[in-house]
Formats: sequence, C-alpha cells, structure tokens
Amino acid sequence: MTDTTRIAVLVGSLRADSLNRKLAELLRDEAPAGVELDIVEGLGELPFYNEDLDAASAPAAAVALRERVSGADRVLAVTPEYNGTMPAVLNNAIDWLSRPYGAGALVGKPFGVVGATPTPYGGKWAHADTVRSAGIAGAVVVEEVTVSQSAIEVDPTTDADVRAKLVAAVTTLAEFAPAVSAA
Ligand SMILES: Cc1cc2nc3c(=O)[nH]c(=O)nc-3n(C[C@H](O)[C@H](O)[C@H](O)COP(=O)(O)O)c2cc1C
Repeated sequence: MTDTTRIAVLVGSLRADSLNRKLAELLRDEAPAGVELDIVEGLGELPFYNEDLDAASAPAAAVALRERVSGADRVLAVTPEYNGTMPAVLNNAIDWLSRPYGAGALVGKPFGVVGATPTPYGGKWAHADTVRSAGIAGAVVVEEVTVSQSAIEVDPTTDADVRAKLVAAVTTLAEFAPAVSAA
C-alpha cells in the first residue's frame, strides 16, 4: 500500500531542445512530496491511430503507452501549440488511449494540461483542445490545472513565479478529488 500519487506525463513535443519537455522534467524534479511524475516516453514511436492496427495484438508502443497511463492515478499533458491546436503526436496518443471505446486508459482519470509557447497566448487553444479531447476519451478534466504560459517575456524554466505556478498546477491535479455522486 502506497500513498504516492502517480502522474503520467504526456509531452506534446518531440524536439530535443523542447521547452515543454524541459518544463515536464522540471515538474518531475520539483514534484511535491508524495507526488511522482512519470514522463511517458515513446510517443514518437506510436503509429498513427488505425483501427486495423488496434487488433488482438496492438503495436508495442501503444501497449506500453496504455500500460503506463493505466498504472497512473492522474494524467498531465505538457504541450506547445501547433497551428492553433495540439501537436499531432499528442492527439495521436490520446486517440490510442481512447480505445477500447468506453474502457480506454484515460477513462475516469483526472487530467490536466499545462504548457508554454513563445506567443502572447501561451498555447491556450492547444490546451483547450487537449482537455476537450481527453474528456471525450473519458478523462475527468480538471480545468483549474490549466496553465497556458507565454514565453515571450519570461523564460518559464528559470522564472520563479512561473515555476511556482506550474508546481501549483501539479499540486491541484494531485489533490483533485472526483465528486462522489449521491446514491
Ligand atoms: C508547426 C508549428 C506550428 C506552430 N503553431 C503555433 C501556434 O499555433 N501557436 C503557438 O503559440 N505557437 C506555435 N508554434 C510555435 C511553438 O509554440 C514553439 O515552437 C514552441 O517552442 C514549441 O514547443 P517546444 O519548445 O516544446 O518544442 C508552432 C510551431 C511549429 C513548429
């Protein structure tokens, strides 16, 4: 029995020098006590979602993704914005996590999103689309987690206020308690 809250982290950028990847690593390294962030690797190895591939033996990368997310208590996406929405790599991961329909790895998981882009809006369209998509896939969206951070005037990796805001977002996600419906 452990009281550690495990958060699976999906990073929406594959770029080696990705700002959002760095933020995910910072959040992992600065996780509040009792919270563990597990950055899920291999999103770039996922084939594009295809129901023909999602058969008795799904691709190994998809099986691994589903296992990592199933084993977590929460899911956090850390993502930039591409062309006004989430990058395809993240969208594809959510598609794989959305099946089997009604029983995918996201079903019932508290889900939040944060990220930064070098625009005034900080990727807010991507973040709105990410939580909408995750919610349709069955996740329990925790809207209060969302941080869409502009990286124009600050370096989010070093700015103390931004870092504190992002750590607070992780705490909010970790402490989220789903409402218990009355019988
Ligand atoms: C194909 C592409 C589309 C982009 N579209 C947007 C956009 O719509 N909104 C935005 O804020 N930034 C956009 N950007 C800029 C990215 O937010 C920026 O490059 C960011 O640093 C990428 O995140 P990363 O550093 O984690 O890789 C785009 C970048 C690329 C490569």
